[in-house]
Amino acid sequence: MSLLKRLGGGSPQPNEPVAIAPVAIPTLTPIAPPPQPPAAPAAPGSAEPRSQPISSIPFEEAAQPNGQQQILDLSLWCVDRIQASLGNQNELKRSPETEKLLQERFARVYQQAGVSLPGEQVKQLFTMVCDELMGFGPIQQLLNDDAISEVMVNGPNRVYVESKGKLKLTAIRFANDEHVLKIVDRIIRPLGRRVDRKWPMVDARLPDGSRVNAIIPPCAIDGCTITIRKFSKNKLKIDDLVRFGSMSPEMAEFLRACVVSRLNIVVAGGTGSGKTTLLNVLSNFIPEDERIVTIEDSAELQLGQDHVVRLEAKPAEVDGSGRVQIRDLVINSLRMRPERVVIGECRGGETLDMLQAMNTGHDGSLTTLHANTPRDALARMETMSMMAGMDLPLKVIREQIASAIDIIVQQSRLDDGQRKVTYITEVQGMEGETVVLQDIFKLEILGKTPEGKIQCEMKPTGVRPRFTPRLEAHGFKLPPSIFGAQVPGQKKGW
Ligand SMILES: Nc1ncnc2c1ncn2[C@@H]1O[C@H](COP(=O)(O)OP(=O)(O)OP(=O)(O)O)[C@@H](O)[C@H]1O
Ligand SMILES: [Mg+2]
Repeated sequence: MSLLKRLGGGSPQPNEPVAIAPVAIPTLTPIAPPPQPPAAPAAPGSAEPRSQPISSIPFEEAAQPNGQQQILDLSLWCVDRIQASLGNQNELKRSPETEKLLQERFARVYQQAGVSLPGEQVKQLFTMVCDELMGFGPIQQLLNDDAISEVMVNGPNRVYVESKGKLKLTAIRFANDEHVLKIVDRIIRPLGRRVDRKWPMVDARLPDGSRVNAIIPPCAIDGCTITIRKFSKNKLKIDDLVRFGSMSPEMAEFLRACVVSRLNIVVAGGTGSGKTTLLNVLSNFIPEDERIVTIEDSAELQLGQDHVVRLEAKPAEVDGSGRVQIRDLVINSLRMRPERVVIGECRGGETLDMLQAMNTGHDGSLTTLHANTPRDALARMETMSMMAGMDLPLKVIREQIASAIDIIVQQSRLDDGQRKVTYITEVQGMEGETVVLQDIFKLEILGKTPEGKIQCEMKPTGVRPRFTPRLEAHGFKLPPSIFGAQVPGQKKGW
C-alpha cells in the first residue's frame, strides 16, 4: 500500500479549526536532496544541530513511552523540511486541500528520512506533522478529545489534563521551551495578541470560545505555561446538574424560585469548582421578558434568552492604554436600563459598585467569586469592596453586603473530582458588627466507597428562609417539607 494511502483521508476533524476560505496552495518547489548521511536536523527555533543522526533513532521503541521523544524529534524534523519546501509559510489553515498537499510533502520527506516505521506510527507521525503545521502542535490531540475539559502545559515536559474531574499527567511532550512558545504564539497571534519578556502573560479566547491563559519566563520560572479551559459545546443544564448529583431536585427548584423572585445571588467556590457553569444555569432561569446585561472578563456565559447584552472587558493596547475593566463595565451597565446584571466574576473594586447597584434597585443580580465557604465569601466581598478605594468604614461595607446579598450558593470540587453545591446559605442581616448567615441546604459527607468515591447527601437544615414571602409574592408556595420539616400527610417536593 502506498504511503499516501496508509495516511488515510484528509478531512478535518470536528474540533479542529476549519479554513474559512480555500487556501491558496503554493506551487510545488523541489525539496532539497536528503542529507548524506542524514545531517543532524536543526530543532525549530534553535540554531543548535541535533546531536543524533536521524537514521540512528531507535524507531522500534517509538511506540513505547520512552520512544515518544524520538518520534517528536522526527516529526519536527519533517515539519522543518516541509515548511522549507512551502517557502517557510507559517500559517496553514486546515482544509482538505492543505491536508492533501501535506500528505504529498510528508511522503517525500518521510522517504528522505530513510526510516521504516509500522503503519500506525507513520499515521501518528503524519498527525503530529499536521498538528504542528495547522493546529496547536502536541496539545491539538488533547483539544480534539471531548472527554478532556482542561489542558495545562507546565513547560515542555509536563502536560496535564483534567478529565472526569480528575487531573492527570499525560505523556505529551514539547521539544523545548521555544516549541511551547511557538504554540503560544500560534494560539494568540490570530487574536491580535502578543506575549514577550516585557509583558509575559496573556488572556485570550479561542475562536471556539475556549479560555486561554499563557505566561512565559521570566514570570513563569519553570518555563512557558499554557492553561486552556476548553469550551464545552454542550453547556451543562439544570437537569444535568441534578442528574450528576451536583444538587438535589429540591435545591434546583428552590434556586429557580430565588432567581425568578429577583434575589441577589452570589455563587462562591474555589478555582475550577464550577462557579461559571452554575452561574450560567441560574442565569438561564431569568424570565424571557427581562433585559439582561452580562459582564465578563472572557465571555463564557451562554444564555438562552433573546434579550441579552453581552459585555466583555478589554485588555490594554500595546502602548498600555485603552484597558476596559469589569468595574468600568459594571458602572456603564447601570446606564443601560438593565433589569438583571450578571457579572461573570467579581475580583476587585467592582464588588462595591455591584453591591451599591443591588441596594439601589438593581436587584435580581448574580455573580461569582472565589471563596471556600459562605463565610469566606463575605470576607472576600469586604476585601474586594475595599479595593474600590472609597475609604468606607468596614461596618458600612458589611451593612452594604448584608442588605444587598440574599443568598450565597457554595460550589465545591470534592477530592474525588465530583462537583457539588455544598451550601445554600441565606444572608439574613446584621447583628451588631456581624453579618448573620443561615444555611438552608447543606451537603453532608457520609463516607467513601472502596473505589474512593465520596458519598454524600444534600440536606435541608430545617430552617425556612426569611425571604420566603418574596418567593410567595412571585407565586412560589414552598411546602415546609422542602426545608426538611416533617408535616404529616404533606407531600415532599413542589
Ligand atoms: N456540576 C458539575 N458537574 C460536572 N462537571 C462540572 C460541573 N460544574 C462544572 N463542571 C465542569 O468543570 C469545569 C470547570 O467549570 P467552570 O468553568 O464552571 O468552573 P469555575 O469555578 O468557573 O472555574 P474558574 O475558577 O477557573 O473560573 C468545566 O469543564 C465544567 O464543564
Ligand atoms: Mg469561572
